[in-house]
This record gives sequence, structure tokens and C-alpha cells, in this order.
Amino acid sequence: IRALSIASEAVPLVKTGGLADVAGALPAAVAPHGVEMTTFLPGYPAVMKAISRPRALHVWDNLLGERARLVGGKIHGYPLLVLDAPAFFQREGNPYVDSSGRDWADNWRRFAAFGRAAADVGASAVKGRTFDLVHAHDWQAAMALAYLRFSPPEGGRRVPSVMTIHNMAFQGHYGADVFPALGLPPHAWAMDGVEYHGGVGFLKAGLEAASMITTVSPTYAREIRTAEFGMGLEGLIVSRADRVMGIVNGIDTAQWNPATDIQLSQAYGQLSKANGQLSLGKRVANKRALEAEFGLEESDGPLFIAVTRLTWQKGIDVLLECIDHLVGIGGRLAMLGSGDKAMENAFHAAAMRHPGKVGVRIGYDEGLSHRMQGGGDAILVPSRFEPCGLTQLYGLAYGCVPVVARTGGLADTVIDANLAAVMDGVATGVQFDGVNYASLADAISRTVTLYWQRDTWRAMQRAGMKTDFSWNRSGKAYADLYAALIAEDQ
Ligand code: ADP
Ligand code: GLC
Repeated sequence: IRALSIASEAVPLVKTGGLADVAGALPAAVAPHGVEMTTFLPGYPAVMKAISRPRALHVWDNLLGERARLVGGKIHGYPLLVLDAPAFFQREGNPYVDSSGRDWADNWRRFAAFGRAAADVGASAVKGRTFDLVHAHDWQAAMALAYLRFSPPEGGRRVPSVMTIHNMAFQGHYGADVFPALGLPPHAWAMDGVEYHGGVGFLKAGLEAASMITTVSPTYAREIRTAEFGMGLEGLIVSRADRVMGIVNGIDTAQWNPATDIQLSQAYGQLSKANGQLSLGKRVANKRALEAEFGLEESDGPLFIAVTRLTWQKGIDVLLECIDHLVGIGGRLAMLGSGDKAMENAFHAAAMRHPGKVGVRIGYDEGLSHRMQGGGDAILVPSRFEPCGLTQLYGLAYGCVPVVARTGGLADTVIDANLAAVMDGVATGVQFDGVNYASLADAISRTVTLYWQRDTWRAMQRAGMKTDFSWNRSGKAYADLYAALIAEDQ
């Protein structure tokens, strides 16, 4: 099966969030199951730099008003195609927002062009490339499916499609005035087409056009049928319910493995030959290093971490409210994140209030995020909604016990330390219901109590570390889905 994965970011070339981790890992995840995946990315500066000798495989003279070409390269050793369109993508900084944090005003045109080009490539209308299926991720890629449906390229193949929702909160919703510039036929302007609340909905258009809709956890797939999580698209999801499924994300175990992670002062976790136990004791060296890196006082008490975008989705406002409580019961906190300016300031204020107990790093730092998972005792993930969530998975793999809201992928991947689970030795973390002060404060208290029950805590760490969150299972699930869609289409 030859699949084209269409995404606006993918590690190691460009990343603003978990989508990049997933798009970057997918080719290797499906390869063992007979899928040859090509990744299609916009030609941001960082992506173009990774292409050693760009040679035009195809040229568009007028791609939504601009000249563009297709160039090829490799990502993690797998085939990569890039839309080299300087007018759209040759800008420094963030893929979606300018330096002041505002969406680029022409995002609709940039990602419509990306979709148009992806549709041409996916339908094998570009010489020398043939695909059996296209897989679009999030609203930035969604228009590819609308173009394939309403405006397939001349001489192209008809291919089945998968639309994956990584986050329903981002939909690419624009005014009706952009419609004429999209180059779609008039009948695409329909309730079951690209029209959405009187404007154009990119994600909406993709969801209507897709052969299959997937999201990144089974619980989130159920949640988005409701108004609370569907963000206005719950009706569509319900109407296509037999075409919606959840496939939980894996983690890239080559990048995220405490036994081999070069970021850590001390590797750990390999089962020792002598007694078959994970070498967890060694983690303490990483904890000391982390305390030093964050200017925290040395202590054997619990060290909480958070690695996160600072947004409402992630429940950061509630986490901020709970800091005094966390410190009051003997905890310390190291936080790495960026986003909302008011939240950044509030963290600085908390660090001032609690010197030696609360350490804050504003920014984006991949290496530090590894050292935090390797040295922290527990990771806080109080999200209001979480399609999958990766930081709790990294926490599980690293023995950094996740403390999570019971929603989306957090509900699916963490086993709460209730009495029965603790007795059975299957507990891997702490879950709480409702993202508010009382619930999170209570979860933090429970975590501190569990932390001091040293045998129970060790057992939780071990259970998490032994869980298989590799891509094996989900890679096969995607491959099976592709095969079924192709068979159905014949
Ligand atoms: P989302 O994609 O909604 O932000 P995920 O948990 O799926 O949430 O993925 C977030 C990814 O981004 C993880 O790989 C996490 O480690 C990383 N990350 C988030 N914030 C930072 C940061 N400030 N520095 C380094 N890595 C970060
Ligand atoms: C989105 C979601 C996150 C998910 C990631 C990768 O960014 O917010 O929950 O893990 O996509 O699928």
C-alpha cells in the first residue's frame, strides 16, 4: 500500500505540538505492516534546509495565485515530498502565527494551496508518483480531501482517504469571501461540502469528504459526539458515526527511552540481569540534576513537573491555582512551557513566591523536556480536553508518574491508583474528574500520599514503564484501516 500522509508539521523538521511527533513517527509505524508512506509537508525554511539538492518534480504555475514546485527528500529515512512555495511558506518563526502571536492573515490561502497540491499528488496526477490512499491530519491538511472530492485533478486516480482529528479545537474557519479564491466548483458550497455556518470550514470539509474519520484515542472519538467536546462539529460526527474510530497514538521509542536517552545524566530502566528489576534507583541522579537546573532545593520529597503549551485546553489556570497547595503539602514543581502571556507571568510570580520550591522555564526546549521526564517524580496533565496527549505517555515510559484529568487519551492510557488497581499492581498514575481547584488539589494530595508509600510508588513506576506504548499496535491498526478502505473502494 502506498499512502500519502499530509501534515503541516513532522519531527524532526518542524514541531509545535504532538501532531509533529505523530506525523514523524507514522511512516516507521506502518512500514512493518506493508505500508510505504510518503510524508507531504509545506516548505517552511526549516524544511527546505533539510533538502540537500532540491530538484523540481512538478511545477504549479498558478497554485492559488502563486508559483510553486514539488521537491523531494527524506524524513527519518522515509520518502518526503515538500511544497516549495516561498510566497506561502518562506517565513521565519511559527508555521501558523506571526511574531506577535497573531494567525498569519493568509492562512486560508496557504493551507488551501497546500491542500490543492496534496490532492494533485495524492491522486497520482504528478508524474512518477502513485498512491493508493491519502491520510490528512488536522485542518491544515483537510482541504486536500475537499479538492479530491470536488475538483480532482485531470487524469488522476480516485483514492480513499482518512481524516485524522488531532484537535477539534482548531478548525480553520474562514469567511464566505474566501470561497471564490479556492477554485472549487459552485456545488462545493453546500451543507455537506465546505460551507460551515455561512463561511468556509476547512476541517469540516475534510470530515465530510473523508472515507474514514479517525481521532487519536477511543475516548475522544466518543467525546466529540457531544457539544462539550465537538466544538460545533458534534452533529457532523454523529451523522457519520459509523465512519469514526479512535486509534491511540504511540510514542517513538527510539527518541523516548530512559535506557538510551543521551539527555539524561544517568540512563536507567533496563531490566538488570541479577534480579530482573528495573534499575529505578538510578533515577535519583537525574532528580538532583533537574533540581540544580531549575534552582530548586535538594530534597527527597516529591518533585512534580509540567511540560506543556500554556493554554486553557491544558487546564493551566487551574494548575496555577493549585501551586500553593502543592508546595504546602511538601511538593516542588518544575514547569517548562510557553503560550499565554498572562499564564507565563503567573508562573514567574509563583516562582518568586516559592523560591527553591517552584522553578519555571518559559520557552520550548526538547532536551530539557527529556531531562524533566527522567528526573521528575510525577507529571501533571490537568487538561480540559485531550485528544490523546503524549507527555503522559513519556511520563509512563520514564517512571514519571502521570497525574491526569479523566478525559480523552488521558483516560485511555493511565490506570488510576484506586485500591483495586494498587492491590493488583496495575496502577500507573492518578486520575481525577473535573478540572477545577478541588479535584486537582485532591489529586495532588493523593499523589503525595502515594509517593511516600515507597513500595506502592515503585510498583506504579514499574507498571508504567513496562506498558507497551510503542507504535506496534497502532501502526498495525492504521495499516489494517488503509487496507480495508482500499478493498471497499474496489
Ligand atoms: P499538544 O499537541 O496538544 O500540545 P501533546 O501532549 O500531544 O499535546 O504533545 C505535546 C508535545 O510537545 C510533547 O512532545 C511535549 O513534550 C512537547 N512540548 C510541549 N511544550 C513543550 C516545551 N515548552 N518544550 C519542549 N517540549 C514541549
Ligand atoms: C493534538 C492534541 C494532543 C495529541 C496530539 C497528537 O495536539 O492536542 O492531545 O496528542 O495532537 O495526536
